[in-house]
Amino acid sequence: MKERPFGFEIDIADAAIPARDRCMQRRLSALRGQYQDTAGFDHMVEQGDPLIYEVHEVLRPESSGELLSGLSIVHPGRVGDEYFMTKGHYHSVRGTAEIYYCLKGHGLLLMENEDGDWTAEEFRPGRAVYVTPNYAHRSVNLSLNEDLVTFFVYPGHAGHDYATIESNGFRKRVVHRDGTFELIDNPAWSAPAQVSA
Ligand code: F6R
Ligand code: ZN
Repeated sequence: MKERPFGFEIDIADAAIPARDRCMQRRLSALRGQYQDTAGFDHMVEQGDPLIYEVHEVLRPESSGELLSGLSIVHPGRVGDEYFMTKGHYHSVRGTAEIYYCLKGHGLLLMENEDGDWTAEEFRPGRAVYVTPNYAHRSVNLSLNEDLVTFFVYPGHAGHDYATIESNGFRKRVVHRDGTFELIDNPAWSAPAQVSA
C-alpha cells in the first residue's frame, strides 16, 4: 500500500476511478425484502437479475486515521413504482459521518436514525450531502434514464451494518407518482430495538 500522498483521476463520463479502484456490483437480488412489489421484484430477478448499482472504491486500509472514498453509481430503473436504490446501511461504528458529492444525475439520499428522525436530501450535480453520525443512508436514483453518480468519503474504521436495514427497512419509500417522486410511509418498517440506558 502506497504510504505517500497521491492524486487520482475521477472519470465522470465513464463513472470510474481508473488505476486504483476495486469495483463492487450489486444486482437486484441483493435487495430482497426492500421493495413493496414482491411479485414484480421476483419477476425481474427471474428475467435476468438486473445490475442496480456499482461502487468503485479507492483502496486504503480500513483503519482509523484513513479516509475511504470512491464513486457510487446507481443505474436508472424501477421495481413497481419504487426507484432503483442502494441497500442502505448504518456504519458499524455509529459515531462516524460521511460526505457525498453529486457528480451526475438526479437522486435522493434517504437518511434516518435509531431515535425515529428521518430526512432526505436531493442529489444534483454540484450538491453535497453531509451525513451526520448515527444516520443510516440509502441513495435513490430519481431519473428514469440517467445514472446517479456520487463521490463519497468516510472514516476508514466506520464499517458497515447492513443487517439493521435488511430486517427493518427504511421508514420511507420513494415512489414515482404523477410524473414526479413522492416519499410515503413504509408499512413494513419496524423500529430498531431500543437499547435501554
Ligand atoms: C460507504 C457508503 C457508500 C455506499 C454505496 C453503496 O459507507 O455509504 O460508499 O457503500 O453507496 O451502498 P450500500 O453500501 O448501502 O450498498
Ligand atoms: Zn456509509
